[in-house]
Amino acid sequence: MPETIWTAERCVYMDDQEILAQLPPRLLSWYAGSARVLPWREEPTPYRVWVSEIMLQQTRVEAVKPYYERFLNALPTVEALAQAPEELLLKLWEGLGYYNRVRNLQKGAQVVMERYGGKVPASFEELRSLPGVGDYTAGAVASIAFGIPVPAVDGNVLRVVSRVLSRRDNILDPKVKRRVEEEIRAILPPQAGDFNQSLMELGALICLPGGAPKCLLCPLREVCRGFAQGTAPELPVKTKPKPRRREERTLFLLFSPQGRAALQKRPETGLLAGLWELPAGEGTLSRQEAEKWLFAQGLEWERLEPGPKARHIFSHVQWEMTSWVVRVRGEIPGFVWASGEQLRRDYALPSAFKAYVPLLRENGTKERPQEETS
Ligand code: ADE
Repeated sequence: MPETIWTAERCVYMDDQEILAQLPPRLLSWYAGSARVLPWREEPTPYRVWVSEIMLQQTRVEAVKPYYERFLNALPTVEALAQAPEELLLKLWEGLGYYNRVRNLQKGAQVVMERYGGKVPASFEELRSLPGVGDYTAGAVASIAFGIPVPAVDGNVLRVVSRVLSRRDNILDPKVKRRVEEEIRAILPPQAGDFNQSLMELGALICLPGGAPKCLLCPLREVCRGFAQGTAPELPVKTKPKPRRREERTLFLLFSPQGRAALQKRPETGLLAGLWELPAGEGTLSRQEAEKWLFAQGLEWERLEPGPKARHIFSHVQWEMTSWVVRVRGEIPGFVWASGEQLRRDYALPSAFKAYVPLLRENGTKERPQEETS
């Protein structure tokens, strides 16, 4: 095979898979020469790797080092950790912060004692089921300590992949993380633990965050689209999801003398497009405002009573619903008037209204639904 000649522009024309396939050989040889000597790398037993990964969550390697040595001297085994008094645990962790990490670590050690006879389990799923162990930590321990070929994708890895592929995907989106996990899974070499660590190490030493990558020292420079296109410093994109819009709505449970309830169709576009709904006004309407709303519809009524409240959460909107139960004088046009039987059989109301369905079916006479305001 002729040798590939790498030019700065070449990777711009390669597809994502071709670029990703270049990572294992380049990173593994770089890692062999440039990996930091770290205490948990010297002797990567499952227990030692597990403790290191928990300590390294939200904490820099340099800050972790002295804590790590002290912790392992005091608690050298899963058994010692499982039995340690809480004051000792907290003393060993003092200054590292996020104390739930060490509480969960101890709970995990107790589970390992009870369920696995003190041996850290050698499978991603069993590791993942331990308290405080998420996808990243389970992947790191499984691959580093047991050589199991699973990805371990943390913020460092997401940054490296975003830059190498010059992607503007939002790395805070769980879907984006899942996609990267699958892409890494597809290229894992037999030395999965070293490869996962080489990605983290590149993120920690070269592909630095905050617009400061050291591209000229990078073993991926020739295959990095972010370098070729000059986008690396501005990547990755991290946009916090917008908070849900809160909409207050007042529902009207309108009951006719014939014992039917009013429904209407939602507009053909937007939220719950074209589905049936209860008539509603915008905002939380007082009695006076509710009367005004009823007048505006051309309705006359005999009784107007406050009804239940409910909340429904959609992906981008949250409805805070209050209601009025109204006995109207006649079935005016503009609404569909449905009997309890028809409601059961013919009209599917979206689950946003489920708190009101029992009341509708019983014609407003039976028990009120539970308020859903928690
Ligand atoms: N950050 C978390 N775990 C790490 C590891 N094993 N090597 C380098 N950085 C890390």
